[in-house]
Amino acid sequence: MQDVPIALVGAGHGGKAILQTLLETPGIIVKYVYDLDPEAPGILYAKKRGLTTHNDASFQQIHNDPTLRLVFDVTGQESVFTQLKQLKNDNCNLVGPLATRVIFELLEQKTTIMSKLLEHQQNLEANIVKRTGECELANRNLIDKIQEYEILNEKLQQINNEKTRYLLQATHQLKAPFAAIQSYVDIIIQGFTGTIPDQTMEIMEKVKVRCDLLQRSIKEMLKLANLKSCIEENIKMAPTLISKVMVQVVKEHEVIATCRGIKLIVNLEENEQQVVCSEEQISILFAILVENAINYSHKDGEIIITISPSTHDALFVSIQDHGIGIDPKHHNKIFDEYYRTNCAVNKHENGTGLGMSIAKEIVHLHNFSLSLKSQEGEGATFTISMPTS
Ligand SMILES: Nc1ncnc2c1ncn2[C@@H]1O[C@H](COP(=O)(O)OP(=O)(O)OP(=O)(O)O)[C@@H](O)[C@H]1O
Ligand SMILES: [Mg+2]
Repeated sequence: MQDVPIALVGAGHGGKAILQTLLETPGIIVKYVYDLDPEAPGILYAKKRGLTTHNDASFQQIHNDPTLRLVFDVTGQESVFTQLKQLKNDNCNLVGPLATRVIFELLEQKTTIMSKLLEHQQNLEANIVKRTGECELANRNLIDKIQEYEILNEKLQQINNEKTRYLLQATHQLKAPFAAIQSYVDIIIQGFTGTIPDQTMEIMEKVKVRCDLLQRSIKEMLKLANLKSCIEENIKMAPTLISKVMVQVVKEHEVIATCRGIKLIVNLEENEQQVVCSEEQISILFAILVENAINYSHKDGEIIITISPSTHDALFVSIQDHGIGIDPKHHNKIFDEYYRTNCAVNKHENGTGLGMSIAKEIVHLHNFSLSLKSQEGEGATFTISMPTS
C-alpha cells in the first residue's frame, strides 16, 4: 500500500506530540510541517528527524501539492482553518483544532496507559525474578533437609541394628548360666543334697515355676532378634589371645557340665598365639559351641577342646564331644535359624535353634572357616580355622 502524505500546521507542544505519533504510525508520511515560529518545539523536532519545515502562513506547498491527503490544523485559529479549507485540494481532508484536540487527548491517555502498563510489566518481571530466587532457595533447602534426613535415617537404622544384635547375643548368653541355676534347683528338689524342710521345698518349687517362666521369656526374646542385623564396622577388632578367651568360656560352663556329669578337657598345644578378632564375638562363638557340646553329650561324657597351630599361618580351635552326633544330611541345615534335628529336640528340649546361625555370622564377619565332622550317634567335632597373619 502507498504511504499517505500529510501536512501538519502548528508545531507547538501539542503539534510536536501529534508529530511524534504520526511519525510512528505506519503508512503515513509527514510531508510538511508549518509554524510561524522557527524555534517552535515541533519545528525543531521535525528538523532533527530530517523533515521539511516552513515558517510562513502562505501554505503554498499545501496549495500546490495534489497528492496531499490530510492536513492537521493544530493552531486553534479560525482564520488559518478557513484559509487551509480553501487552499487544499478536493481529495485532501482537513482536521480542525477541535478534532485534533480530541486526538491529542486520546494520545495522552494512550501514553499514560502505556507507561502504566510498562511499569506494571517491570514490577511483574521483578516479582517473578524475586519469587524464582526464593523458590530456588527453598528447593535447595529442601534438598539439604532430605539429605540430612537420609543420613539420620541411616544412622538410626545402624543404631537399631546394633541394638538388635546386642539383644540377641546378650539373651543367648543368658541361657547357659540360667540353665545352671535350673540344674541346681532340680538337684535340690530331687533331694540329692539331702532332705530339706517343707517350707524350703515350697519355696524351691516356686523358684522352679519362675525359672520355667523366665526360660520361656528368653526363648521369645531370641525369636525377636536375629544376628543378620549385625554391622561389621561396629565390631572392634584387636589382636587377641585365643587360649585365654577359651579358658574363660570353659570356666563359665564348668558348673553346668559338672551337674550333668560331663568332663571338659582343654588341650592348649599353642597358648601364645594371637588372632585379630573381636574378643567379645569370639567368646560368644566359643560359648555357643561349648554349650552345644554339653547339651548334646550323654551323661558322664567327655568334651575335648583343642587349640593347635596349623602349618599355614592359622590357628585351629576344635570342640569335640561324644554325644548324639549329627547325620551328615543335616550338616548344612543346622546353620539355618531355628533349625533343630529331632534327636536334638529329644535330648535338649529348651533349645531355640539360633546358636549355630549366630556362630556362622561371627565366623563370616572374621573371615574364619568352620567345619563339622559328625555321624549320628558318634559325637561331633566342630573346628574353627583362624588366620594368624
Ligand atoms: N554338638 C552337637 N551335637 C549334636 N547336634 C548338634 C551339636 N551342635 C549343634 N547341633 C545341632 O544343630 C542344631 C542347631 O544348633 P543351635 O545351637 O543353633 O540350636 P540349639 O542348640 O538347638 O538351640 P540354642 O539356639 O538354644 O542353642 C541343634 O538343634 C542340633 O540339632
Ligand atoms: Mg545351641
